[in-house]
Parts: sequence; C-alpha cells; structure tokens
Amino acid sequence: MPSRQAAGSTSAMLEELLHNRNSVRGFLPDPLPQNTIEKLFSMAQQSPSWCNTQPWRLVMTAPADTKRLSEALVAAAKVDLPAPDIDFPLVYSEPYNEHRRQCGGALYGAMGVARDDKAGRYDAWLRNYMFFDAPHVAIVSREECLGEYATLDVGVWLGMFMMSAQSLGIDVCALASVAAYPRTLRELLNIPDEEIILCGIAFGTRDPNVPANRARTKRQNFSANVRTATLDSDG
Ligand SMILES: Cc1cc2nc3c(=O)[nH]c(=O)nc-3n(C[C@H](O)[C@H](O)[C@H](O)COP(=O)(O)O)c2cc1C
Repeated sequence: MPSRQAAGSTSAMLEELLHNRNSVRGFLPDPLPQNTIEKLFSMAQQSPSWCNTQPWRLVMTAPADTKRLSEALVAAAKVDLPAPDIDFPLVYSEPYNEHRRQCGGALYGAMGVARDDKAGRYDAWLRNYMFFDAPHVAIVSREECLGEYATLDVGVWLGMFMMSAQSLGIDVCALASVAAYPRTLRELLNIPDEEIILCGIAFGTRDPNVPANRARTKRQNFSANVRTATLDSDG
C-alpha cells in the first residue's frame, strides 16, 4: 500500500487516466511493439476474479490476419442475422434509452452523419467489423462451465485492460458488435463451442484525423447509481 501522501499522487494520476479515457474508433495502421503488447496483457492479468478462477480467454490476431478476420466479419454482417452467444438487449427502457441516444448522438454528430442518413449509419455500423482499422484485435470469451458470474470476472478484466492500456498510451475500443457473429469467429479462430464469446477489443494508436475520435460521452453523477439505504429501526 502506498503511504497516504504517495496515495494522493497515485490517485490523482488514476483520476486523470479515468477522466481522459475514451473509446477510439479510428486507428493508425502501425502495429504496437510486441513488448508493449506483452506489458499490456501482463498488467491486465493482475485482475481479480471469483476464487481467482481467471476465466478470461483471449484470441489475438497477428496484424496481417486482422484484415482477413475483418473481411470475413464484414461479409457476415452484410448477410447474416446477428446470433450472439448472449442475447443483445432489444429494448432499452429509460434512463438507458436516453444514455444510448446521447452516446449515438455524440458519435454520429462527430462523424457528421445525420439522424435520417440511413446509408451513413450503415457504413458507420460496418466500421465495427473493420475494427475501426486497428492493427490489433482480440476476441474475448469465457468458459461456459463456470456459469454467469464468470462474465462479471471478464468485465473486471476488461476494465483493468482498458486502464492498463490508458496508462501505456494505447487506445482501445471494446466491440460487443463482433460477438453478433460467433460462427465466423469460431471457424476462423478455433474458439471451442464450450467458450462463450463476449466481445472483441480493437487496440492500437488513435488516428487524430478521424472525426469519430472527437466524440465524447458524459456520465451522470454517481448519486444516480448509488443510494444509501436506511434500515427500519424496528426491522
Ligand atoms: C462491453 C462493451 C462493449 C462495447 N461495444 C462497442 C461496440 O460494439 N461498438 C462501439 O463503437 N463501441 C462499443 N463500446 C464502447 C461504448 O459505446 C463506450 O464505452 C460508451 O459509449 C462510453 O464512451 P467512452 O468509452 O468513450 O467513455 C463498448 C463498450 C463496452 C464496455
């Protein structure tokens, strides 16, 4: 544990990383050095999990194969119906619908895609399957046998991965969208049927000239998510 004074500066650094992080949807083609990738995965590997089960499973592509995988996914996205291992939400009630609307508005606004521009929205959606031109993509899955709590562990890992990346100056976009086509992913990457495919992660270095990278999202004050319960005194 750092001393109280050191903890202050560590926490200020972490706070800055948290506030400056954002999803990147336009990457430069340059691959990251292998030792940087290894550093990133070894930092995220420190993630805690239920009974230390460490259930996250990742398949990465070499940069040359990232393009082939992307082409196969784009082809699937154009003709196949989404069939994710875990159902995507179909309906968003409030306040989730409003959060989602704001997130889409920020992205499409930055890209200059109008609300009624169906072709523009379709092209923007297909960019998911191009991994936003990232040189690296990892597909994230988990063992089925551990049950649903393992998804929580993988979520914790994903957060650790994102913050490790942020501290190393690596840009990231999580991609639940690619989990819509598990058959393509299984076929090309030899992902066993016993693993549930959760999402992809595109990573590399942001292209500062891509308009989508100017999109920023906001958060509600934590009081929207956290409440303090008062227990009945006679309860
Ligand atoms: C599990 C997960 C899956 C996501 N999937 C996608 C995706 O498929 N496509 C995409 O453009 N963004 C995706 N995102 C990014 C979210 O839209 C983004 O995190 C959210 O809008 C907040 O914005 P920020 O990351 O810039 O702070 C995903 C994020 C998470 C955590």
